[in-house]
Amino acid sequence: MINYTEKIPNNVDLGRDRVLQRALEHWQPAFLGWWYDMGPTESREYDVYLRTAVSVEPDGWAQFDYVKMPDYRWGIFLQPRDEKRQVNFGTHQGQPAWQEVPGEYRSTLRRIVVTQGDTEPASVEQQKMLGLSCPSLYDLRNIFQVNVEEGRHLWAMVYLLHRYFGRDGREEAEALLARRSGDTDNPRILGAFNEPTPDWLAFYMFTFFTDRDGKFQLCALAESGFDPLARTCRFMLTEEAHHMFVGETGVSRIIQRACEAMKESKVEDPSDVRALGVIDLPTIQKYLNFHYSVTLDLYGSDISSNAANYFTSGLKGRFRETKLEDDHVLIDASYPVSEVVGDKIATKNVPSLTALNERLRDDYIDEIRDGVSRWQRVIDQAGIPFRLTLPHKGFHREIGNFAGHFISPEGEVLNAEAWKKHEFEWLPTPKDYAFVQSLMSGRVTEPGKFANWIAPPLRGINNKPLNFEYVRFN
Ligand SMILES: [Fe+2]
Ligand SMILES: [Fe+2]
Repeated sequence: MINYTEKIPNNVDLGRDRVLQRALEHWQPAFLGWWYDMGPTESREYDVYLRTAVSVEPDGWAQFDYVKMPDYRWGIFLQPRDEKRQVNFGTHQGQPAWQEVPGEYRSTLRRIVVTQGDTEPASVEQQKMLGLSCPSLYDLRNIFQVNVEEGRHLWAMVYLLHRYFGRDGREEAEALLARRSGDTDNPRILGAFNEPTPDWLAFYMFTFFTDRDGKFQLCALAESGFDPLARTCRFMLTEEAHHMFVGETGVSRIIQRACEAMKESKVEDPSDVRALGVIDLPTIQKYLNFHYSVTLDLYGSDISSNAANYFTSGLKGRFRETKLEDDHVLIDASYPVSEVVGDKIATKNVPSLTALNERLRDDYIDEIRDGVSRWQRVIDQAGIPFRLTLPHKGFHREIGNFAGHFISPEGEVLNAEAWKKHEFEWLPTPKDYAFVQSLMSGRVTEPGKFANWIAPPLRGINNKPLNFEYVRFN
């Protein structure tokens, strides 16, 4: 018998819950099998300087030490319970928060947990190969940190499935290990999680754009009336912040290095910039366009009766729900949504309840805009006349009101032919990918060294110097 209190750090009294213990006992070997199969390639024996959560207290959740990733202590942590917490929105507003799943919402809640859970292993699968082309030990350690935490997020959702959804939950937990990112027969549930992450620029873009979708979904679920889900998501958010940091600083360092090289050699033409072994700014813009647009689709249809039901039922709130000053019921409220009318994009007001996906997407876009302007500052400070822009939110969309339309990054409605003509000015071409990957043909493993295409970070992890041996290969 495995002693789970030992093996799995937790604050859910795992040692006393025999049923849950048995379920997790059964699931754990399958999880490890999945990790060996789909986790980072060739990483099994590495000692990685990782942060492990051992409790939810401020001093306990960030312990740093060398760990072999299969031995990482995938813990189960819920933010401590607030006995007075209530359902804060929808028709059940004011009731005590639910500690068990309300029967009438059982299948809906299970679907929400499964959809969130499915994204966690998916991103590990997408990033599987990247360790082989890391630009430094610092970056290698960071991607592994993200990977083990996504693994822990899977545990967090599986805990909910096992603890609250009985047999169906156990079946769903197994299915989470069976689907594979990009698989034709058994793909991951959401589109962006089936796109390849072929290189490190894509990885940083993914952690900036797509992990931030994770943040916003978790924030909405952290408002849930189903208290165990809310408490689980609150703790996951502390880890998500690091993933977005890795993405934002990663892209920023690539931009910085490009700008430095351009200034040193006094070149601006993208092919001259590429000849210096750094990534030209127009290519960075194309990656941005791609990752932004596929991530916007993750929020779902602009007008959605599901979203309205989730809210009305008290299952999924808005971003910072309890800080918003309205009635939290939204029966009479309206919200602007865009649609294509003829050859123009028009805005119309619709009932707020049906527009909650769009509203969460808009909250997300606000935060993205701030991040992109911080990247812009790096370019401005170098004195290079290049502007990074966020494409129109209708650009390159496959879900919602813009699906089936051909919108330029500037927001013009085009026909298919005109759009196709420009597609490769806006999105990465096979040649762009080939170029970026050509820079990343091997890994940089000397402590303190960084690949030519990326600037070193400002500081190391946990106050360690940049030349710290963040990963030991053994
Ligand atoms: Fe996650
Ligand atoms: Fe994440």
